[in-house]
Amino acid sequence: MGKIHGIIASLLVSLPLFEAQSWRVFEAPTATRLNGVSFPHGSASEVDSGEGWVVGGENTILHTMDKGNSWDIQNSPLDSSAELRSVSFWNATLGWAAGNGGDLLITEDGGTTWARQNPGTGDNIFVIQATSATVVYAAGANGLFLKTTNAGATWNTLSTTTQYTFYCMDFVNETFGWIAGMYGMIFHTNTGGASLELQETIPGSTHDIHGLKIIEVNATTYSGWVVGDSGLWAYTEDGGHTWNEQEGCGSEYDLDALVVRKPEEANVFPTVAYAVGQAHEAICFTIDQGEIFTVENMVSAGYPLFAAAWMDEAGLELIAVGDFGEVITYSGSPPPPPRHLLLPHLHHLKSSSPSPFTTPTATSPTAAFTTSPTPPLPASSE
Ligand SMILES: *[C@@H]1O[C@H](CO)[C@@H](O)[C@H](O)[C@H]1NC(C)=O
Ligand SMILES: *[C@@H]1O[C@H](CO)[C@@H](O)[C@H](O)[C@H]1NC(C)=O
Ligand SMILES: *[C@@H]1O[C@H](CO)[C@@H](O)[C@H](O)[C@H]1NC(C)=O
Repeated sequence: MGKIHGIIASLLVSLPLFEAQSWRVFEAPTATRLNGVSFPHGSASEVDSGEGWVVGGENTILHTMDKGNSWDIQNSPLDSSAELRSVSFWNATLGWAAGNGGDLLITEDGGTTWARQNPGTGDNIFVIQATSATVVYAAGANGLFLKTTNAGATWNTLSTTTQYTFYCMDFVNETFGWIAGMYGMIFHTNTGGASLELQETIPGSTHDIHGLKIIEVNATTYSGWVVGDSGLWAYTEDGGHTWNEQEGCGSEYDLDALVVRKPEEANVFPTVAYAVGQAHEAICFTIDQGEIFTVENMVSAGYPLFAAAWMDEAGLELIAVGDFGEVITYSGSPPPPPRHLLLPHLHHLKSSSPSPFTTPTATSPTAAFTTSPTPPLPASSE
């Protein structure tokens, strides 16, 4: 008896850890689709300032100084039909944005002014990443892979052996990175894109990869996940030489974006990852390296989410953006509880169990906000 009470007490103690997590839905000053988000922190930014940028359709560039509580609209020199897909800030002043038709922009003043750059292509760019103040990569349609080493004064096309579209990339420094996209294709470069190694693709997978995140465990070990269509999750502990497909949250969750929490210590594999995507009102996450996946209902959100980022270096505050100007944050995320304290009910949320999400229901553009138990916060004006 005493032993059982002890276990129950442990479970009760662990419960608030889960309940401490909370969603907030913000009203961005636009109803267009939001495709990309960047919150600079880490090597180039010494503090978590809460400053970030979001880009999207209809030539939209949004800026926040307070982790999404309030937004201002920045001026873009592109025309109003421009569809920006991705944004990457090296630090709080220097950033790039890119999108359809080879649109490419730079700011050197935190977005007060944006200027066009010429990538030498009219193809769609789906992802851009600043790996230093001067070296930036971009990639997109039909195997397009671009690089600049002079902050974008000139852009060079890197040769790839594929005509398939790239959707995501992750460089850990100026020369060492991964790039992925259609049909489960993943390439690795350790030469700044001069050469690309096609990695062992996920066995049998033909699903497009939309999210890729690699963590430096130590100087010789790189580990992380890819996510994609039909609920694809795959994990690597060896820099992508082998990818192991994981159960994820079910094939009904087409996943578009991924964030992975960097462990505080060296030599420790990442265990915590969150993905968002086309499955309305849900996030799919794991806190134990993919042994158990959990679907969390966001309640007030109703739209597909296309991009996600950590707002802080520790990886405790998540932001995700999506259709109809949807901006969501998620915070208070706890460290993983010891394995033996994992609650049995989490297992029921795996894909094999019936879930309210298996039957997609039409969502009207206004339904998400009107059915919200707490109305979205109005954007405060300065
Ligand atoms: C961002 O990086 C650029 C280039 O190194 C530098 O000139 C600028 O001062 C940096 N800004 C911040 C806020 O650190
Ligand atoms: C990038 O990381 C790789 C792998 O750790 C390392 O070999 C390389 O020297 C690094 N390059 C730079 C420019 O830091
Ligand atoms: C890097 O980390 C892995 C995982 O903990 C470990 O197996 C390996 O020995 C480490 N390598 C070095 C050089 O510390």
